[in-house]
Amino acid sequence: MKLDSIRKEYRYTALSQDSTDKNPFNQFEKWLKEALDAEINEPTAMGLSAIDVDGFPNSRIVLLKDFDENGFIFFTNYNSLKGKSIQQHPAVSLLFFWPELERQIRISGFAEKTDATVSNRYFQSRPANSRIAAAVSNQSEKIPSRDFLENHFETAKMIEPTIRPEHWGGYLVKPVHFEFWQGRESRLHDRILYEKTGDLWTISRLAP
Ligand SMILES: Cc1cc2nc3c(=O)[nH]c(=O)nc-3n(C[C@H](O)[C@H](O)[C@H](O)COP(=O)(O)O)c2cc1C
Repeated sequence: MKLDSIRKEYRYTALSQDSTDKNPFNQFEKWLKEALDAEINEPTAMGLSAIDVDGFPNSRIVLLKDFDENGFIFFTNYNSLKGKSIQQHPAVSLLFFWPELERQIRISGFAEKTDATVSNRYFQSRPANSRIAAAVSNQSEKIPSRDFLENHFETAKMIEPTIRPEHWGGYLVKPVHFEFWQGRESRLHDRILYEKTGDLWTISRLAP
């Protein structure tokens, strides 16, 4: 495969310290709205990286389900690899890539379990099959076959779970850094960094 000749110029728009909101959550909301308006594929999909139990950084996609000034929420199995990783090392990073807008957002912060009420509310809002799948899948465990999983699912369907299992719920990632990246011509990209000190956010420009 010849990959070294694949090249793209980024010309969509610019990003400056003056044009970014002083509050990174507002800036995130502005960009997310633009991603939704542009109807890009899976705009709420984000890479979640954590240090796994063997000490390796490990990344996977999860879906952002809510955010406000407290942080960013996703839902998962607390016993999964990511759940065990977060339990040991709550420092994580989130990554959004919206290629149609030539944008990347990196967020680092500390993850903690959401309140049970938040997890219950979201669990109840999910379609029945998703609730059953959450209940029957020991996410990240080795299983003998696809049949094993489907049989487990079919059996569980007969007793549809309406109560959220303890091992499934949300995480809230409380950010300490945000970086907004806008692709520019000739690889002179714009990078705007927000760093939290106390309750204040300081804004800087980074070299591309
Ligand atoms: C588009 C997309 C969305 C996903 N959303 C979630 C999610 O919200 N929660 C989740 O636990 N896994 C989600 N997954 C699956 C994860 O990427 C991953 O396979 C799973 O959580 C197990 O990860 P772990 O073994 O590192 O814990 C998603 C995968 C894709 C590709």
